[in-house]
Amino acid sequence: MAELDVHQFPCLSDNYGVLIHDGERQLTASIDAPDAGTVAAALKDKGWRLTHILTTHHHGDHTAGNLALKSETRCTIIGPRAEAAKVPGIDKSVGEGDTFAFGGFEVRVLDTPGHTAGHVSYWLPSAGVAFVGDTLFAIGCGRVIEGNAQMMWDSLRKLMALPKETVLYCGHEYTQANARFALTIEPENEALQARAKEVDRLRAAGKPTLPTRLGLELETNPFLRPASPAIQKRLDMVGKPEWQIFGEIRERKNRS
Ligand SMILES: [Fe+2]
Repeated sequence: MAELDVHQFPCLSDNYGVLIHDGERQLTASIDAPDAGTVAAALKDKGWRLTHILTTHHHGDHTAGNLALKSETRCTIIGPRAEAAKVPGIDKSVGEGDTFAFGGFEVRVLDTPGHTAGHVSYWLPSAGVAFVGDTLFAIGCGRVIEGNAQMMWDSLRKLMALPKETVLYCGHEYTQANARFALTIEPENEALQARAKEVDRLRAAGKPTLPTRLGLELETNPFLRPASPAIQKRLDMVGKPEWQIFGEIRERKNRS
């Protein structure tokens, strides 16, 4: 079966750019386009020609490069239907349940609103990867800007239902601060303690902490763990609905 090449690179101050490449069909997609120059440099570096941009959401640090890259390469821009009007240069809009082919790979679209009202994630089951934008981060999640806690929780649950070995690519390197916060929510979580140390080691060495794996997030990310008895007890929310517990954790992170 064809291999999907994935190349992640830092962009702007704390964003990641990601290129995916199907060598057999000579197709290359940029997952979001934080900055045209940095994406173009990454393409040159790899010797790949841009054919697609897959936009997760309309924020400028994910779409600022769209128009320049499109005019240079004539790439096709695919983005969320529910906020298509805000995605520069969009050619094709997609939403929940849509699938499309990227070369030999099927891309499944998941609506994951909450950070923005129309945010989508892209899952490539046969490659075992998902691109989740600013919905889920390593040991964290995106700010709930255009939605509400219930909506964001539903989006996270959708991602939590993917196969545990799925490799997750996220929009930002926020992991170290996320780990510090997570330890205030579930300090007794040994997997989290170990991961926080590993994150410190990686960052001290100037290395990325992403991508991550869903299974690891399920064990260590407090935003995915409102069912944890220890978290419920600490927040004094034993037996409360999970979306409310998620909402309380998100509020505390906003204030941290
Ligand atoms: Fe964003």
